[in-house]
Amino acid sequence: MIEFCGLPLAHPIVNGSGTFDAIAARRAFGDALLKDFPFSAFVSKTITLAPRAGNPPPRLWEAQAGMINSIGLPNRGLAGYLEHDLPQLAQLPVALITNVMGSTEPEVAQLVEALDERPEIAAIELNVSCPNVRTGLDIGADPASLAALMRAVRPLTSKPLIVKLTPNTADVAAVAVAAEREGADAVSLINTLRAMALHPATGVPWLGGGSGGMSGPAIRSVALAQVAAVARHLSIPIVGMGGVSSGEHARDLLSAGASVVAVGTESFRDPCAGTRIASELKSLQIAESPRIGVKTSEPQPEVDLNCVDS
Ligand SMILES: Cc1cc2nc3c(=O)[nH]c(=O)nc-3n(C[C@H](O)[C@H](O)[C@H](O)COP(=O)(O)O)c2cc1C
Repeated sequence: MIEFCGLPLAHPIVNGSGTFDAIAARRAFGDALLKDFPFSAFVSKTITLAPRAGNPPPRLWEAQAGMINSIGLPNRGLAGYLEHDLPQLAQLPVALITNVMGSTEPEVAQLVEALDERPEIAAIELNVSCPNVRTGLDIGADPASLAALMRAVRPLTSKPLIVKLTPNTADVAAVAVAAEREGADAVSLINTLRAMALHPATGVPWLGGGSGGMSGPAIRSVALAQVAAVARHLSIPIVGMGGVSSGEHARDLLSAGASVVAVGTESFRDPCAGTRIASELKSLQIAESPRIGVKTSEPQPEVDLNCVDS
């Protein structure tokens, strides 16, 4: 048993938002899913204020060591989530973390305020990798924009707030520090890396959305570096994710400074991956040496994302 943002978790493995549809899984596996739920907390797919249809197909591209998706956040919107999805997700045997995204501060504020009223929801994850129409920057790529958003929404909920960071930024640690300073209870990273695939015959973009986000094994070492870079500067817990498909991968992220590890793309290949990875992790001897990313007074190896060894 571990504690994360005041929530007791049976083990450190959760799901990455948008990569495990618990409602569809319940339809497929019935109550067996509830008896052996693969994750110690469930993170919902991102919800937005208004319903979204998502991007036009094709939405997926299988790369050599990962997947590029351009799903485009299809969801029922806040009202549809509260009416249709929440009652079903509340039946899961684990804590529910609801992931939200808005394009403006008032939109995010409305989402957070509405979720704060619902006792079924244990924590809120803010997906801040959406284009900010005001500045033209991704909110999550710019420490000042994120700080302003946090100042607007932090007072609106007493639930734990987890900020999901984008890897598509020059200095992820600066963004993470802004999140912590403005009252985030945790950060999670990494989201997908901006990526593109071309149609092999025509050379035009394959994905209906033009470009997409890379996930899976290809991004694991990027995730490790970013989690380590962030952990050196933060005191709040980190949810590490990106390309995890085994207990060893999860242990690596914990060693880099994460407290909890999320499994994403691997669940498409193996819906029981969470259970397997949690059990593999348990059987591994976690090294006693200091975590390379954790903030400490002891001298630390320098992890500098801008320093590329060749
Ligand atoms: C098909 C797909 C859909 C996703 N949808 C969301 C989403 O709705 N919200 C979000 O914050 N992250 C979303 N993600 C990102 C994942 O939660 C995770 O951050 C990322 O995929 C890296 O982990 P992985 O390599 O284990 O998949 C999605 C990823 C994939 C592959």
